[in-house]
Amino acid sequence: MHVFVTGASGWIGSHTVDDLLTAGHVVTGLARSDASAAALAAKGVGVLRGDLDDLDVIHRGAAESEGVLHLANKHDFANPAVSDAAERASIETIGAALAGSDRPFVFAAGVAGLALGRPATEADPNPFVGPDAPRGGGENRGFDFVEQRVRAVAARFSPTTHGPGDHGFVAYIVATARQHGVSAYIGEGTNRWAAVHVTDAARLVRLGLEQAPADTRMHAVAETGIPTRAIAEAIGEGLGLPVASIDPADAPAHFGFIASFFGMDMSATSEATRELLDWRPTGPGLLQDIAAGAYFDVRVASAG
Ligand SMILES: NC(=O)c1ccc[n+]([C@@H]2O[C@H](COP(=O)([O-])OP(=O)(O)OC[C@H]3O[C@@H](n4cnc5c(N)ncnc54)[C@H](OP(=O)(O)O)[C@@H]3O)[C@@H](O)[C@H]2O)c1
Repeated sequence: MHVFVTGASGWIGSHTVDDLLTAGHVVTGLARSDASAAALAAKGVGVLRGDLDDLDVIHRGAAESEGVLHLANKHDFANPAVSDAAERASIETIGAALAGSDRPFVFAAGVAGLALGRPATEADPNPFVGPDAPRGGGENRGFDFVEQRVRAVAARFSPTTHGPGDHGFVAYIVATARQHGVSAYIGEGTNRWAAVHVTDAARLVRLGLEQAPADTRMHAVAETGIPTRAIAEAIGEGLGLPVASIDPADAPAHFGFIASFFGMDMSATSEATRELLDWRPTGPGLLQDIAAGAYFDVRVASAG
């Protein structure tokens, strides 16, 4: 299949592209910089130069493909409305380009905010609707295109899609621990995060592209829920720092934007996904990755 991938140079995208190439697919990736274009070209990936705001370019990339993976995101956590607007516009543009074709459109989503007090399942609807909602209401907007004969599939990633080289949430929490000289968790630290190794997530995205029927919500979840206290303890152990609880009221000052995520229960299961796609995660768990040092060479731009 000729697959157009936005975010092909990103954390999940680069692993997914590797998986697609190994499986024999032909890939064209959106690249916004010379560095990203060069990284894609070096893998034998076709390059379409453009930014997420270049909707005509994104439309062309989707229209010329046999399927689309949308994994790019501006991730402007200081100004989420910017990321959310771009996310919604990208999904609308790709959906329109694929309308009437029955071609697959797999887009990134998350398990955050899906359920309260229990692990989220694939049957839980996404509560975020409309342009002002988190992620621009992108998951529900993507599924609008099912009735226009687009094989829309959401890849709901665990809040930590982890592995060596990850610069996401766990890397940020590690940076915060370094900065403050203490590895903190919020309150009792009993809220839990689902987790998946990035190579397992990449394989799932590829399986979804190849096989998932329209209207599928895939859960990229290998571990249902790791208490945030256990994450903080593993980071403290790895950095040789004390571990401490901080009061929820003090969490935003300590953690910055990540406080709301680190204080949230984001546990989720993946039974339906495993059954549907015969997906069996095999990678190491999150605490294993932290203990093996996967996060201690990574620097993120700023923390706290
Ligand atoms: N990682 C996780 O644990 C996780 C969890 C839940 C959901 N998700 C979602 O999964 C998706 C992939 O996440 P990720 O961790 O792989 O993200 P990432 O590593 O930050 O990669 C983002 C990708 O988007 C591209 N990009 C950013 N701004 C762009 C712009 N203005 N124009 C064009 N391309 C742009 C980046 O290009 P450059 O390479 O050139 O910078 C990169 O390829 C995102 O939607 C994310 O929100 C991820």
